[in-house]
Amino acid sequence: MHVAFHLAVDLDTSLRTAATTAGLADAAAFTPEVRTADPKHGDFQANGTLGYAKARKLNPRATAEQLVAALPASVRDAYEVSIAGPGFINFTLKPAALLAWLQSFSTPEALATGAAAAHAGQTWVVDYSSPNTAKQMHVGHLRSAVIGEAICRLLAFTGARVIRDNHLGDWGTQFGKLIYGYKRWVNAEALADDAIEELERVYKLGHAATPDDSPELDEARRELVALQNGDPTNVALWKSFSEVSLAAFQKIYDRLGIQFDYHLGESFYNDQVERIYHELTATHPPLAEISEGALVVFHPEHPRFKTQPFLVRKADGASNYASTDLATALYRTEHFRADGIVVVTDFRQGDHFEQLFLTVKKWFVAKNYRLPELHHVTFGAVTGEDGKALKTRDGGVIKLKALLDEAEERAHAIVTAKNTERPEADQFSAEACRTIAQTVGIASVQYADLSQNRSSNYVFSWDKMLALDGNTAPYLLYAVARIHSIFRKAGVTPAELALNATATAPETPAEIMLARKLAKFPDALRIAGESLRPHFLCLYLFELAGDYSSFNSADKVLVDDPVLRARRLMLCARTLLTLETGLHLLGLRTLTRM
Ligand code: ARG
Repeated sequence: MHVAFHLAVDLDTSLRTAATTAGLADAAAFTPEVRTADPKHGDFQANGTLGYAKARKLNPRATAEQLVAALPASVRDAYEVSIAGPGFINFTLKPAALLAWLQSFSTPEALATGAAAAHAGQTWVVDYSSPNTAKQMHVGHLRSAVIGEAICRLLAFTGARVIRDNHLGDWGTQFGKLIYGYKRWVNAEALADDAIEELERVYKLGHAATPDDSPELDEARRELVALQNGDPTNVALWKSFSEVSLAAFQKIYDRLGIQFDYHLGESFYNDQVERIYHELTATHPPLAEISEGALVVFHPEHPRFKTQPFLVRKADGASNYASTDLATALYRTEHFRADGIVVVTDFRQGDHFEQLFLTVKKWFVAKNYRLPELHHVTFGAVTGEDGKALKTRDGGVIKLKALLDEAEERAHAIVTAKNTERPEADQFSAEACRTIAQTVGIASVQYADLSQNRSSNYVFSWDKMLALDGNTAPYLLYAVARIHSIFRKAGVTPAELALNATATAPETPAEIMLARKLAKFPDALRIAGESLRPHFLCLYLFELAGDYSSFNSADKVLVDDPVLRARRLMLCARTLLTLETGLHLLGLRTLTRM
């Protein structure tokens, strides 16, 4: 039996063909609307008959019957098909089809090949993390990095060539004050010890020493102008600021499993902004106009942006965040030939990106440039359990490094406590406990962030994210480790080919339930990928782990009967494959023991 990876997509195609075969009026306009169904009713349901029939004053049930009668044999072989209510069509996978699906998609490569259709041949640039240099990353920088990396992996798995671009905030007026402070107060020893911390200290001193309208501020401005005009001393200093910042950021990225392809910060676009000003004013009619000395873009069709300007060049002639972002969009389109651009920042930059994208669309159309898909992926704030911004006990900002350290420490306390409860022969070494705690600690922070809808504020709770029960990383990592231990006991590896050849179709209710859930992995990928919302994948993995756990308590795996044993081991192997693939797509590391 041939089976498609995306069962729902395949059903959609079959139903469209059936509409033509059945001779439905206006068959090309029929949209099947295939969705995953409530498992009580089936695996998939097609709801499109209703709207289609209604618009044409037909009886939807009769239309559904015509469609079902015209379905190709392959669909009837694979599904129990029934019509429900006013004309919904329900599809339930037959055990033989479940087996065929599980046998076809039995390796990471097979899953990847199946998934690759969605973005095949496309290039996507993902702009995420993107902190400002000369400052430490704090808790506010967590979400962009974690969500951005998961999106990169989802896009890559679904076929895209992904370019990870760290759009560093490495330019701006703050560098005048920083250089002013640095030249006067830097401490070489402190700099060698923790460079960013020292840069933050001298910046604060520089800022305090240069109040508005003071001669000191004029001096700081002269440092900035010198930097902008290429003064070798200031340029060398500025370069060193970027280098030490990146080195510190990279330590955090390593812990989160992030590796950027490019670090093209704002400064990279300095010499590309003139072209932007020119092109935005040379269109007919011009997109940008001068208002109070500044160059601005209005969007007359928009309720707010018809009066709220998008400021693309300041009145003093200097470029700003908008100018460099316009240049960035152009560069990504021309240089990387991007089909899609994703920028991941918190929701407060919503207006900026809405105005940016509106401007880019009009400008690219006017110039006949290829227009990529543009997505601003936003997320809510990180708050404490009291709903207020997350702060240290004395009210300071929480540094990202300290937060990850604490995650590992807390996980370590849990892991060592559990370890002492094990029989002595099974206990982990102190070193193994460390490694497990590192993986669990970081994964918990990542997963807690990813598992809720990113648009909501994110309530940071150590107890919830480290809990062994519920939709958490420890729960899922534990499920993975438990399946590994079954294979160790059975003395076979999950990848054993013989498992595939000897397995029979699922029979018991728990086996069937689990197999049906496994075959829905492509839907979870698709929904998460299309909406750029990783929590849909998290929810799927959590439900899969639940179905696995029900299967595990209902049906013993390591039984003597070789047929049962082979079939159940195969289900264990596929669950493991799906859980590991899914968790790695989210950016988590997994364990074989814990
Ligand atoms: N550096 C900015 C910040 O810290 C984020 C940059 C996002 N990317 C962009 N192309 N504007 O808020």
